[in-house]
Amino acid sequence: MPLSMDTLVSLCKRRGFIFQSSEIYGGTGSCWDYGPLGVELKNNIKRVWWRDFVQGRADMVGLDASILMHAAVWKASGHVDHFTDPMVDCRECRRRFRADTVDETPWVHYCAATKGNKFTIPAGEPCSHCGLRRTLCPDCGKGELTLPRQFNLMFRTFMGPVEEAAAVTYLRPETAQGIFVNFDNVLQSTRRKLPFGVAQIGKAFRNEITPGNFIFRTREFEQMEIEYFVNPRDSVAGRPADEHWHERWIEDCLGWFQRYGLQAENLRLREHEKAELAHYAKRTADIEYRFPIGWSELMGIANRTDFDLKQHAKWSGKTLTYFDEERKEHVVPYVIEPSAGVDRALLAFLVDAYREEEVRGETRVVLRLHPELAPIKIAVLPLLKKREEIVRTCHAIRDELAPRWPAAYDDTAAIGRLYRRQDEVGTPFCVTVDVQTVGDSDKGEAGDGQATIRDRDSMQQIRVPIGALTPVFARLLGGEPWGSVADRFGAPRPAASG
Ligand code: GLY
Repeated sequence: MPLSMDTLVSLCKRRGFIFQSSEIYGGTGSCWDYGPLGVELKNNIKRVWWRDFVQGRADMVGLDASILMHAAVWKASGHVDHFTDPMVDCRECRRRFRADTVDETPWVHYCAATKGNKFTIPAGEPCSHCGLRRTLCPDCGKGELTLPRQFNLMFRTFMGPVEEAAAVTYLRPETAQGIFVNFDNVLQSTRRKLPFGVAQIGKAFRNEITPGNFIFRTREFEQMEIEYFVNPRDSVAGRPADEHWHERWIEDCLGWFQRYGLQAENLRLREHEKAELAHYAKRTADIEYRFPIGWSELMGIANRTDFDLKQHAKWSGKTLTYFDEERKEHVVPYVIEPSAGVDRALLAFLVDAYREEEVRGETRVVLRLHPELAPIKIAVLPLLKKREEIVRTCHAIRDELAPRWPAAYDDTAAIGRLYRRQDEVGTPFCVTVDVQTVGDSDKGEAGDGQATIRDRDSMQQIRVPIGALTPVFARLLGGEPWGSVADRFGAPRPAASG
């Protein structure tokens, strides 16, 4: 059965990935808090993205700009004038809807053909009794809707103690502008040659009228953005440099999501129609993911041309150009922008990792998260928590592993249950310590000093000397397949307790 968003929301709350914001006060609309496991998963996504796209590449540098910027930035960028959605309001209940999607929700209808009975009719369909289509408010079913009006999606606020027009500024709706306004600073301080990119991870804010679908669309979210500057006069492999690099970034981003676990059949590319292009874009391709709500945008890769640098040069009066040594001329670089949402990426990784498997007549829920993304890498579990020696050994193992890998200790249930709990949060490996490990001093029996490693995906186990755990995990968590590591320790066994 396909995974429902409700199942995922429930798992996320139960296991401490994601909580509703301000839940004890009834919650804040479409704001979410990342819990103990969620923050680890989110940090892991950001860490591997930064490592792969910034630290691992010679043509990239990073930046961390402030969220609050000069108000003129948003005039120059076009956000004050163009970052709007057409909205309609109900004259009766005052609810507000996006004019372009108002027909995409089920609508309430008081049907005259059935003595005014109330029906909720599926989105876009007419009433099956009277045949009428929706014209009134879809929510209350009574009020006329106003004509569409443009509503700006930026959160407005005031800088300083006085709430006056001169103090108005905005919470940034995209991190990108922090990069554009620092273009010359980065160029001068790093002496980069085109093409090069600047990456940034940070919060952005949009006053969405129809947020929802869990963390898919929220008013406060986190972006991982790259502005990749290219010389528009250059050509690469017979194509203008901007078009060449646009394709390269699309391929690199698709490859990145697949490397960390998204299946190819759940990813597709969608070109923006001319009419839906953002005001700055020459071409945009979305990478879409098959979310439980259907195919939806995971990230966008836009060709922003020289729009932003030219706009900021105009509004600031500063020169924002690059000196092309070969041609001995100043150029305004074109920009390719791979822009991903951290929260959406996290949602996609969770969805793709989620499995319900049949194990010995029972359902095992497992998150097959890539080990680099898994919040906990190793769980150390005692087979018998009443045996002091076993518990002490477990703590010693955890303490040994924890400086290198997030490692947890848990003794709050029987071993089968403990394994299931770790499966459900995606922990790739468990280590168990039993009587065979520590021996039985009452019977004068010595232990063999070996602990069991259990692999989440195959549920196989191997026994490894405690002293070898660190090098073995260095291999396993360094990317060596379970099978090749396990072979060195004798034939792996299926786990007795799952
Ligand atoms: N910078 C592109 C976006 O935020 O959608």
